[in-house]
Amino acid sequence: MTDPTSSPAPMLFEPLTLRGVTARNRIVVSPMCQYVSVDGGPSDWHLVHLGKFAMGGAGIVFGEETSVERRGRKTYGCAGIYEPHHVPAYRRINEFLLSQGALPAIQLGHSGRKASCQPPWTGFRPLNEEDAARGQPGWQGLAPSPIPTSEAAIVPHEMDRDDIQAMLEAWREATLRSAEAGFEVCEVHGAHGYLIQQFLSPITNKRTDGYGGDRAGRMRLALEITETVRAAWPDDKPLFFRVSAVDGKGGHWDIEDTVALSKELKARGVDVVDCSSGGINGPLNMAIVKRVPGYQVPFAETVKKEAGIMTQAVGLITEAAQAEAILQEGKADLIALARELLLDPNWPVKAARDLGLDGLSLLPDSYSWWLARREQIRAMSINRAAE
Ligand SMILES: Cc1cc2nc3c(=O)[nH]c(=O)nc-3n(C[C@H](O)[C@H](O)[C@H](O)COP(=O)(O)O)c2cc1C
Repeated sequence: MTDPTSSPAPMLFEPLTLRGVTARNRIVVSPMCQYVSVDGGPSDWHLVHLGKFAMGGAGIVFGEETSVERRGRKTYGCAGIYEPHHVPAYRRINEFLLSQGALPAIQLGHSGRKASCQPPWTGFRPLNEEDAARGQPGWQGLAPSPIPTSEAAIVPHEMDRDDIQAMLEAWREATLRSAEAGFEVCEVHGAHGYLIQQFLSPITNKRTDGYGGDRAGRMRLALEITETVRAAWPDDKPLFFRVSAVDGKGGHWDIEDTVALSKELKARGVDVVDCSSGGINGPLNMAIVKRVPGYQVPFAETVKKEAGIMTQAVGLITEAAQAEAILQEGKADLIALARELLLDPNWPVKAARDLGLDGLSLLPDSYSWWLARREQIRAMSINRAAE
């Protein structure tokens, strides 16, 4: 392994230009659902939650999975971008993120059969009659095949050709709204057992028409959505695609399938494949890939090398040296963090200092000046004590 600290210029802090936009460094805030949206729209919560990551020095700040249509949300609190009035609400946040030097990014998604439930801390319990009595009735999700996520869940509607056309239109409109709202990066959420992965995986796709069957058939919706999004998303802005490199239980959708998909995505103008895993049997069943530090980095490395496309690594990356080594060893181009940033939104500052950089300059002037001054004073008093 290379010694990351011996590099004169840490790659983690090298800017990265993707089409017409430049991230100030390779640190990405991974998408994180908050479950506090109101009919899909963001609030002050999102301004503060995302704003602190931008103030803390991240290069790209993703908001959470944002549904392209109302019924594509998982819960009543999930984010969406399906109403015109959502646009100015997101724009306000995006302008703040940009003012702090970060690129605002949106992850567009559709939960498919994983719709109509309570948040994760209830185990994604399907909405029931008690919820309906409290004004939150359940609703029917959409899916490639009418297979519910559990016995308690509503059987999803099996999509027909008209539903697929309407779905593509929803993605197109959501993409146009995302551009209008000032997002600089767009990601298609093709992972974690949501609609796109439900089509990809033979566990959930039992169709016999052109959208099922062999791998090419199961990939068709993912590729049509990608083409639709790329056509609606400005040419000078990058498009990411998040994959579950392997299914939750492994073996049905494998890394070879992901490499094949990634080649097709590249041909359709995707710039970065964001390599996650699991989820097809429910988020609480995702533990097939052993949760060791950097557990999904091998997927990012394989996709990068075999599909010849930039990748984003994610999953238990918590140390600067670890992140730097992934980049130095050519395993990925971007490093995404989720939970570590919840713990420390200023993690990029710490990482920069761990790699021998100043770091404080990533912070707003009104923080960094005071912190630099405190360090000077501290150094002076240590010197004085040593005299
Ligand atoms: C609170 C929370 C919400 C999440 N929401 C999403 C999401 O909306 N979309 C997504 O693709 N992944 C989501 N994830 C997964 C993360 O983006 C990330 O892939 C995962 O947590 C592994 O990275 P980590 O070890 O740095 O936390 C979420 C994770 C957390 C902790």
